[in-house]
Amino acid sequence: MTEESHTKAKDLELQEEASLTSGSDSWHLQGLTDKGYEGYMITDGPYGLRKATGSDVYGSVPATCFPPTAGLASSWNPDLTYQVGQAMGEECVQEKVAVILGPGINIKRSPLGGRNFEFYSEDPVLAGHEAAGLVEGVQSKGVGTSLKHFAANNQETDRLRVSSDVDMRTLREIYLPAFEYVVRNAKPWTIMCAYNKLNGVFSSENRWLLTDVLRGEWGYQGMVMSDWGAVHNRVNALQAGLNLEMPPSRTDDQVVQAVQAGKLDKEQLDQMAQGVLDLIEKARPAMSRQDYRYDVQEHNNMARRAAQESIVLLRNEDRILPLDPKEKIAVIGEFARTPRYQGGGSSHITPTEVSSVLGGFKEAGINVDFAPGFTLDEKEQDPALTQQALEVARGADTVVLFLGLPEYAESEGFDRTSMDLPDNQVALLRAVSEVNDRVVAVLSNGAVVTVADWMDNTKGLLETWLLGQEGGRAVVDVLTGAANPSGHLPETIPVRLEDNPTITSFPGEEGHSRYGEGVYVGYRYYDTFQRPVAFPFGFGLSYADFALEQIAVTKTGANSARVEVTVTNTSQADGAQTVQVYVAPCSSRVNRPSHELKAFTKVFLKAGQSSRVSMDLTERDFAYWSTVMDGWHVEAGTYRIQVGTSSRDLVAEQDLQVDGDGRFIPLNAESTMAEWRENSIGGPILRDRIEQDGIPLPDDPNTAQLFDTMPLASVITLSGGDGNGIVADMVDRYHQALKQQGLDS
Ligand code: BGC
Repeated sequence: MTEESHTKAKDLELQEEASLTSGSDSWHLQGLTDKGYEGYMITDGPYGLRKATGSDVYGSVPATCFPPTAGLASSWNPDLTYQVGQAMGEECVQEKVAVILGPGINIKRSPLGGRNFEFYSEDPVLAGHEAAGLVEGVQSKGVGTSLKHFAANNQETDRLRVSSDVDMRTLREIYLPAFEYVVRNAKPWTIMCAYNKLNGVFSSENRWLLTDVLRGEWGYQGMVMSDWGAVHNRVNALQAGLNLEMPPSRTDDQVVQAVQAGKLDKEQLDQMAQGVLDLIEKARPAMSRQDYRYDVQEHNNMARRAAQESIVLLRNEDRILPLDPKEKIAVIGEFARTPRYQGGGSSHITPTEVSSVLGGFKEAGINVDFAPGFTLDEKEQDPALTQQALEVARGADTVVLFLGLPEYAESEGFDRTSMDLPDNQVALLRAVSEVNDRVVAVLSNGAVVTVADWMDNTKGLLETWLLGQEGGRAVVDVLTGAANPSGHLPETIPVRLEDNPTITSFPGEEGHSRYGEGVYVGYRYYDTFQRPVAFPFGFGLSYADFALEQIAVTKTGANSARVEVTVTNTSQADGAQTVQVYVAPCSSRVNRPSHELKAFTKVFLKAGQSSRVSMDLTERDFAYWSTVMDGWHVEAGTYRIQVGTSSRDLVAEQDLQVDGDGRFIPLNAESTMAEWRENSIGGPILRDRIEQDGIPLPDDPNTAQLFDTMPLASVITLSGGDGNGIVADMVDRYHQALKQQGLDS
């Protein structure tokens, strides 16, 4: 480290300071080379390195393409995402990239989201834990991550302008917690703000978001950068807490003038520029390493292991899988030869190699008959290809049929309009299943697809999402049983798109996307309102069988508990089970989802092996966001703790008495008659006044019920008294009583 490296931004020339808060080009920081600060490279992300070569927009240096996030998320394994992160970090070190732009942790609000393949889940706990693993893994190598896109970037339609209109409770409970978890636990070096507006304010200019919540509440110490082209006003952005504009708009003069004119606080600029200097300091040791080379083969092996764990076995009738090596196997579907292994847009990278399923079978020494069945660019059925596929299917014991979304169907930049597979593929499946009733379908898709219409034409179904460059080999590993599938769904597969709670409001109109479903996203909606689903959130089968037994829930504090369970692999195959803990509030003064995932753990067990696992529930796991209290609130009462292997496969449940956090909404001038009467302190005050003032109360039960729902002041006024005056006096007495009991702040 050079002496100059301790430079303080506030001591720099104004022009230098301003220049630090914008890049030097699309992929580099500005730096201050004469003071020892290199303008390091920062580039995509998020599931492999996309380091652009020269001026070519699409060209990038070869890098390992790990499973895209939709796949990796199915692993439910933060240790795995950590290892993938480590490998990505090593590639950054070799390529001298100081920050990799990812992970993307926006919630999959709608199945139609064009970038769902780049995001983790419909659930913030799962997304937060898995992304934290990845962030820690990358950063353990001395390079940074950029947690994106902050916040509520859940659609592609009009993404650079749309306002995500989200009520505070929904924001706090669904769209912010994954960010909060990663910020608090993994400390990402940078965060990327979203393109969209949040409740009318561009994220890049949202001081509440970037400063009050992120830094004030969550204690974030790192740097915030813009999404590419998300800054509309440099000065407003800096004032809001955005350290770095990417790419540069060459408007440093505006920043200088704003400070000179007193329109931008110098101290604020100091802090923003300091964030960029600090980032360069942090990256310096890794960026100064000479001749570092990562092990390309080892990273490829990592990509294969990660892909194996990302595959979800959804159906296995008659134990059709793993395939019997003695069988004659037909492989149908162009995807088996031409894999769809990554998504489109800014995450698109140049892999170091790509394996295919056909290649994988060959390497495994398994002969298969292949027919492409369809082409990837045609939507119509091709009669000649169909006939060929049927012939191959007729002659086989088992057909493995590869279906999926072609590249044209999903990408960054647009949302989908349908959840269905292309018609020609579904028609092929139906035709094939008529000539051979042993069909295993293998899906390649970044975003979720409808399966309910056709899955009964199959005996086996694998959801492989997009698996990265080693997907071909990994799928063969799972099909043959060389690897035991252990993925679980990070999102529900609805029966129909129309069942999804966002159906009436996604992707919005006239510049607004109104999150009308509130906290009822994904399984929170399907499970609470008991909608049928094709496969529930958290679901996934294995070739092994597991028992979950001796579940114990023990209180560890007034509002915390430990959940323990013994998991036993009762089969002959080694495998892994994912134990999920859901918390179900038994009653609440607000509407709450019937249950929510709060903890999970993945256990690897050899055949016959047992393990006792334990998961902790903290106060926050029982809380909801109270808009009135403007904070988290834990109500006292009974909470059901459910343990299972999906949101609908709950093996055991146990009730837990939670003390509550003691917070309450004080009575006030607008409190209703019933609220006064039922309040332990307000009730006696009310009774006193009724007697003292002779307030006449109705005998008739209907009128009494009507009065109960009215503010007390109005009831008294209707009865001929000075309602406002009497209630003001009662509120005073109430506060005195609270104080005496040490309850009033
Ligand atoms: C995307 C970001 C990406 C950036 C740089 C933007 O369009 O939204 O996720 O990191 O481009 O490529």
